[in-house]
Amino acid sequence: MSLQEKIDKLQKGRIAALTAYDYPTARILDESGVDLILVGDSLGMVFAGCEDTTSVTLDQMLYHTEVVARGVKNALLVSDLPYHTYETPHQAIENSKRLIAAGAEAVKLEGGEAVIEQVKAIVAESIPFVGHIGMLPQSVKEVNGYKKWGKTSMEADYLLNDAQLLEEAGAIAIVLESIVPEVAREITRELSVPTIGIGAGNDCNGEIAVIHDLIGFFPWFTPPFAHQRANVADSLKQAAEAYIQSVRAS
Ligand code: KIV
Repeated sequence: MSLQEKIDKLQKGRIAALTAYDYPTARILDESGVDLILVGDSLGMVFAGCEDTTSVTLDQMLYHTEVVARGVKNALLVSDLPYHTYETPHQAIENSKRLIAAGAEAVKLEGGEAVIEQVKAIVAESIPFVGHIGMLPQSVKEVNGYKKWGKTSMEADYLLNDAQLLEEAGAIAIVLESIVPEVAREITRELSVPTIGIGAGNDCNGEIAVIHDLIGFFPWFTPPFAHQRANVADSLKQAAEAYIQSVRAS
């Protein structure tokens, strides 16, 4: 499928999107038919065991983008620009180009009005861009933890304004993270680009989930909105225990 066909597909139906950080996961998800695979900077937490995403570096994102890209043929491959790598439009362009050179087909960064010049600069370079508003994990320290956004009418207005600015700037889709469902519905209704929700109710144009939450591979913390569909942590533990027993018994 061409890049344009992958982007066009997002505009048509419900979008099923997942994160991946390694080759086998990426290949299995791609072969399963997922529409979009995100090399998310959530890898800082669920892959690397850090407290939040703020310590993820561009070099780490480049490495994971390269390994994931080897496994992806049909899904649109999006990579995150990590914290502090898009401070200026120039820096946003240079670092987006590096992610594209590593195999990404689109880039994502967090924020709306505050980063709109960076977004315009990326789009002006013909780099497909995905927006991300609502709970911005890279700002978790500034906003004192993870929370639901859009609870007041002022917050709801800001979110809608951010979404509209991102659409005008040329975003191909916008992730709505941890937003009150009614506000996510309103944003989705007002936009012509698709919204992809995570903890934002059921009325976005698609859903994204962190793969470790979906398959139960990070048992120490599961976000309240996660829908766990497997228990890889238990299977792994059972396999390891069976192996240990058999080695010790032989
Ligand atoms: O980094 C990530 O995995 C994300 C998703 C939560 C949307 O940005």
